[in-house]
Amino acid sequence: MPNKDVVIVILAAGRGTRLKSSLAKVLHPAGGRPLIEHVVRCCAPLKPKRIVTVVGHQAEQVTAAVESLETQIVLQQPQNGTGHAMLVAKRALGNAKIAIVLPGDAPLIRTETLKSLLATHRTGNAAATILTAVLADPSGYGRIVRKTETQVGAIVEDSQLAPEQRELNEINSSIYSFTLATLWPALSHVKPNNKHREIYLTDAIAALTSKGESVLAQIAPDSREVLGCNTRADLAEVDRIFRERKREELMAAGVTIQLPETVLIDPEVSAGEDCTIEPGVQLLGKTKLGERCVIQTGSVLLNAILDDEVTVKPHSLIEESRLEDGTTVGPFARLRVGTHLKAGARVGNFVETKKAVIGEGSKVPHLSYIGDARLGSKTNIGAGTITCNYDGVNKHQTTIGSRVFVGSDSVLIAPVKIGDGAYIAAGSAITKNVPTESLGVARSYQINKKGWAGKKRRELAAAAHGKSPKKKSRKKRGKRR
Ligand code: UD1
Ligand code: CA
Repeated sequence: MPNKDVVIVILAAGRGTRLKSSLAKVLHPAGGRPLIEHVVRCCAPLKPKRIVTVVGHQAEQVTAAVESLETQIVLQQPQNGTGHAMLVAKRALGNAKIAIVLPGDAPLIRTETLKSLLATHRTGNAAATILTAVLADPSGYGRIVRKTETQVGAIVEDSQLAPEQRELNEINSSIYSFTLATLWPALSHVKPNNKHREIYLTDAIAALTSKGESVLAQIAPDSREVLGCNTRADLAEVDRIFRERKREELMAAGVTIQLPETVLIDPEVSAGEDCTIEPGVQLLGKTKLGERCVIQTGSVLLNAILDDEVTVKPHSLIEESRLEDGTTVGPFARLRVGTHLKAGARVGNFVETKKAVIGEGSKVPHLSYIGDARLGSKTNIGAGTITCNYDGVNKHQTTIGSRVFVGSDSVLIAPVKIGDGAYIAAGSAITKNVPTESLGVARSYQINKKGWAGKKRRELAAAAHGKSPKKKSRKKRGKRR
């Protein structure tokens, strides 16, 4: 259901001093996305009249991070506090009745929780409704001071707590719903009475209640949802929770994950039924697994598209590649951008590929580099084969037909074409095209010299040991001791 009388304001102008970083706080990643992106995405399903993001510190970069999402940007310069940020956003809010306000640094919030906050606000006819949480360790957060069981009296910032208020363990999440007609006059009375000389949005609560307005608090169903990221430790904890949520989503969809806490999966990854993910795997970006794929330990996949029954053996790195049905990769393989394995193809250990099409059922089993190359079907590339695609200035193409057999340790110096059904003799340096069904040999012929080795050894021994080799060897043994 759309909420056309509601605007959402995301406060993302602050610097985040406590992170000790040159990067603005809301741009730090957790769970595979910048913090700010999680917050904007969570708000969109509410279908508000508008989502406004207040930016200030590193405004350009923060704007770029949310550009592709539906949000209007407002610049707060300088950043004089969360209350000041709201005043700066005022014009952009138009004639909306209610504003939901969120900080840009609490990315675990769920859409359902926002919906429920809004419902409480509407039915309670409140001037403000605060999303709160009860924490075992509330230090650092603003505390909720209740006037009655249902009514809030004030929010007191951590730095301004009276000694007896330190006990309060209900905290302000910084996520609120405000009725704008009553917020603006209250905010105009807020003074920057704190050591940072900032206008705190939290001080508007006391201003509202002193005028007899109703301020409600709603306790979040899961206190982890309101975790703010002020420190690196907070970021690590939030990341851990996001990763756990994602793994649970995939497991619920029929994916087996072994030692799940060791597996890292980005939010946009998908996997079909009966896939198995072994310990220490990372599935990143927009990686997509079909059904019954097995990703073995230590492998990292970034923007890889896998069809069904693909096996990735341990410690393989696959980036921007497409693997069709029944393909096998690794162990220790590196598939770079533009690799395309057609059905049943196999790339084995210590093989690197780049912009390479490996045809149906073709094999590159060991120790090869295949770059800027196209292989037909049922071709076999011997161990140690290398496509020399680079002449120091330009890259060139290697084309290998179907049913080709390339002998081990061959170099194919591009541009070059090997016809269907051809053979390449092991150890060849191929510089010219090889026609269909032909043998290409490009190596010097072998000569065997009978008895040469024994004669050579005797000559060498005589030169090294002089006339009495026994005496010398005894001396050598003595030395070793
Ligand atoms: C704030 C609340 C605190 C609450 C906590 C929850 C205030 C004064 N305090 O404290 O009660 O318990 O969040 O996490 O609001 N921002 C701006 N412009 C500014 C200042 C901040 O846009 O001028 C943004 C920041 O980028 C951030 C959010 O507002 O996303 C909150 O600011 P932050 O400095 O993190 O406030 P806290 O000290 O965490
Ligand atoms: Ca914060």
